[in-house]
Amino acid sequence: MKKILEEILDKAAYAPSGDNSQPWWFTIGENNIDVHLVPGRDNPILNFRLSGSYFAHGALIRNIEILASAHQFRTETTLLPDPEDSNFVARIHFYKDATIRKDPLTLAITDRCTNRKPYASKPIPGDFITEIRNIGERIQSGKLLLIEDKAKIVSVANSLVVMERTALETKAVHQLFFDTIVWTKEEEAAKEKGLHIKTLELPTPIQGLFRIIRHWNIANALNHIGLSRLAAKGNAKAYATAPLMGVIAMQGSSTEDYIRAGMAFQEIWLTATARGVALHPVAGLLYLTQRILSNEECPWSEKHSLRIIDAYKNIQTNFETGNTTLAMLFRAGYAEEPTARAGKRPPVIK
Ligand SMILES: Cc1cc2nc3c(=O)[nH]c(=O)nc-3n(C[C@H](O)[C@H](O)[C@H](O)COP(=O)(O)O)c2cc1C
Repeated sequence: MKKILEEILDKAAYAPSGDNSQPWWFTIGENNIDVHLVPGRDNPILNFRLSGSYFAHGALIRNIEILASAHQFRTETTLLPDPEDSNFVARIHFYKDATIRKDPLTLAITDRCTNRKPYASKPIPGDFITEIRNIGERIQSGKLLLIEDKAKIVSVANSLVVMERTALETKAVHQLFFDTIVWTKEEEAAKEKGLHIKTLELPTPIQGLFRIIRHWNIANALNHIGLSRLAAKGNAKAYATAPLMGVIAMQGSSTEDYIRAGMAFQEIWLTATARGVALHPVAGLLYLTQRILSNEECPWSEKHSLRIIDAYKNIQTNFETGNTTLAMLFRAGYAEEPTARAGKRPPVIK
């Protein structure tokens, strides 16, 4: 049994996480896996109240449940089983059940990846949209909302890049962002987290520019001649190439809400992968907003806060979310294979 559960974890740990932080470790019992969170791993500004980490745990838990089916296990998951320990995210029990069939999404688990390339304008098939809407219907205390209208997609893309402007114009956020980038595969393997430069899909001249503007003084000087505005414009154009955008909107913003949103999102992403549809989460702005709405101290200026709130409201309007918490936003479409994939660490089992 232990060996099977270890095998399940080897693959489940391919789950997505903010800055590829993989903020988890595990214990294995007689017929259960306990999932634990590493609190300091993800970006301290973006990962507001660890919501990004809990969201990633949702994706991880869904992977474990899906992989269990390949071994004819039925699972029962208890979220946050210990009220005294919020880092104990889930206990998943496994029960042998001969009626269980292998979930077809199993194969997509190690195939799934973030694709930050520009997307082709080819429309998304209606049956795929129906399939992911059905996943959205099952979100407890939340919903999936989609937009395909070009004008709305352009408007949302322009709002999302308020994140890039804030990051390039605020020393603390700039530093965190550039500290996250890893420049070689060796550095990626040695570091606990990080985004490999090649996975960012930057055009070659911009990759060179990145090496220079990682120094705050240079970035700050270039901002005076329009660097941050140009960078935002370029990204907005790339984001807007997607024929489909989606948000997961939750009624609340509790830890459990973020875990459940992550579980649904993973199912959507695996369904996309199985269908050859590329997907890219774009969540930075949503997490900056949560910090402002909670009246926490922010490292950016008041002017940036106003821009961020306006952008968030514009996204809510375009998706007609009402006054909900946007736990995730993603773009989806058809694209070339990504240039590089994020490295994954073997799961830590204690
Ligand atoms: C909560 C969360 C937020 C994320 N936000 C972003 C984002 O704003 N922009 C982005 O390009 N990728 C984002 N990602 C994708 C991660 O960077 C990605 O999952 C990670 O680097 C691992 O790569 P993989 O998805 O290819 O396995 C996010 C992922 C999660 C789980």
